[in-house]
Amino acid sequence: MMHRIVFLGPPGAGKGTQAARIARDLGVPHLSTGDLLRAAVAARTPLGLEAEGHMSAGRLVPDDLVLRILHERLEQPDARVGYLLDGFPRNLAQAEALGKFSEVDGVVSLDIAPDRLVRRLSERRVCPKCQSVYNLSTKPPATAGMCDLDGTPLVHRPDDRPEAIATRLKVYAEQTAPLLDYYGKRHLLRSVDASGTPDEVAARVRQVLT
Ligand code: AP5
Ligand code: MG
Repeated sequence: MMHRIVFLGPPGAGKGTQAARIARDLGVPHLSTGDLLRAAVAARTPLGLEAEGHMSAGRLVPDDLVLRILHERLEQPDARVGYLLDGFPRNLAQAEALGKFSEVDGVVSLDIAPDRLVRRLSERRVCPKCQSVYNLSTKPPATAGMCDLDGTPLVHRPDDRPEAIATRLKVYAEQTAPLLDYYGKRHLLRSVDASGTPDEVAARVRQVLT
């Protein structure tokens, strides 16, 4: 069984939704650089303050900041058994850096037609406290506007506005999509059709990981 896994996919493909489930199955931590950065922004740390403008505009945060925050997280004891990386690496430099500090067992690419993404992202709402992800049409919370788990008011991510979504899709195509080829050449890539319900997608992911 693989324990050091990377999830690749464009914004809104369902990386966070799937990573939460699969990490639970495998007993490894779900490490989302987006979540780690949003936590740093919320805590107003110097790193968070530096990252915030890049994030709300939909651009990548500079590699040195992301590597610092990820490195720190990977040193926590729970990551010794493995990890599921969601949203990292995001360009070739980050992939090279990851290769220097850890082996990777498999890379799952979540493939989906671009026209689905904008809708998924504009309808997304998230819990700022526990990072749970909802969707106004496909996964509404039990009580409108409130997290099912802790009752915190849900928020619309600042980068889920149309201008920032457009930038994120462009950044993905230019900087992240080349990683499909990078990992394909290393025989690590496993592509999964990310359309259908979250349960259907999870079943496909489990299949490529066994
Ligand atoms: P990050 O948080 O990683 O955002 P992202 O890659 O744009 O991906 P998303 O979180 O938007 O989408 P997702 O694939 O997780 O989809 P989700 O499961 O939520 O990064 C944010 C920013 O941080 C970046 O722009 C950058 O600034 C910075 N950053 C992060 N990592 C970085 C790095 N390594 N280097 C530099 N900068 C970095 O699903 C989306 C919606 O669809 C939800 O509403 C969900 O409920 C719904 N949904 C999910 N699956 C389905 C389904 N099967 N059917 C119907 N609806 C579904
Ligand atoms: Mg996510």
